[in-house]
Amino acid sequence: MLKHLSATALALSFCFLAAPEAQRQAMPIGKQLIAHRGASGDAPEHTMPAYQLALDHHADFVEPDLAVSKDGQLVCLHDDSLERTTNVEQMFPDRYSRTVQGRDGAKQWLANDFTLQEIKRLDAGSWKSGRFAKAAVPTFDEMVSLVRGKAGIYPELKSPPLYTGRGVDMVKIFADSLKRQKLDTPESLKTTPVIIQSFDEATVRRVARELPTIPRVFLTSRDADVTDARLRELATFASGIAPEKAVIARHPDMVARAHAAGLTVTAWTFRADEKTAYPTVTEEMTQYLYTWGIDALFTNNPDRFPRR
Ligand code: G3P
Ligand code: CA
Repeated sequence: MLKHLSATALALSFCFLAAPEAQRQAMPIGKQLIAHRGASGDAPEHTMPAYQLALDHHADFVEPDLAVSKDGQLVCLHDDSLERTTNVEQMFPDRYSRTVQGRDGAKQWLANDFTLQEIKRLDAGSWKSGRFAKAAVPTFDEMVSLVRGKAGIYPELKSPPLYTGRGVDMVKIFADSLKRQKLDTPESLKTTPVIIQSFDEATVRRVARELPTIPRVFLTSRDADVTDARLRELATFASGIAPEKAVIARHPDMVARAHAAGLTVTAWTFRADEKTAYPTVTEEMTQYLYTWGIDALFTNNPDRFPRR
């Protein structure tokens, strides 16, 4: 269900005056459905079954959050650590971090303390359902192999500062991976668009320099990021802003102001199992997309996305 710019780019380009031409042409048009951690409402997040289900539900983009293994491999994982979504505690009981802890001092098994071979031994599906007991943590390359040519890829660089503190340059590993897989070329971006996302402003600024053909989106939960002055500043290095949906609900006028500044607007996260003021998640998504006019959204339930 990919929709891309070509001749229509010219018609819409007034919206993206701050972006370089090559990057502007890589931006998709139409309302974009991003499968959040794959189709994570119905399959275990960041597993191949979740990514395949997202494709089955015609997602425009599939989202991998990324972490780096001890031996420098990119793996698809939301948390910096493995214990919430795998059986790492059972498999490696003594390998918890001695330097990093969770809330209330909870033990954490950092992905960066495990080799890819060790991570591949883990069960990443049973926590969701016994049906998925064989699901493993995918590498980024495996995710790309599945999705390439069928949907776009929307990677999030989760915690570059954590890796910097451990002597690991996550952004370089990621940029090298995209270049090795030729995902940053204009030819590839036509069939497999890529949009990079991060909450870390320094990271978004850096990928703007190091991967100039690829659009990038700044994630935020802060009202302070949707003032006119701040939107204009963001537009100097980002292609879009992705506010938490509550920020948009408090400031629906920010959508038009962001567009005027040259930024797309993407909201997160829409979940069928969340109790909201809307009767259904489809009606909630409809409000954001068609009343408030956002461009794209992340949802755990791509089969509920309201197409028009
Ligand atoms: O990346 C958009 C949204 O996914 C941010 O939240 O915590 O689910 O990565 P999170
Ligand atoms: Ca994410």
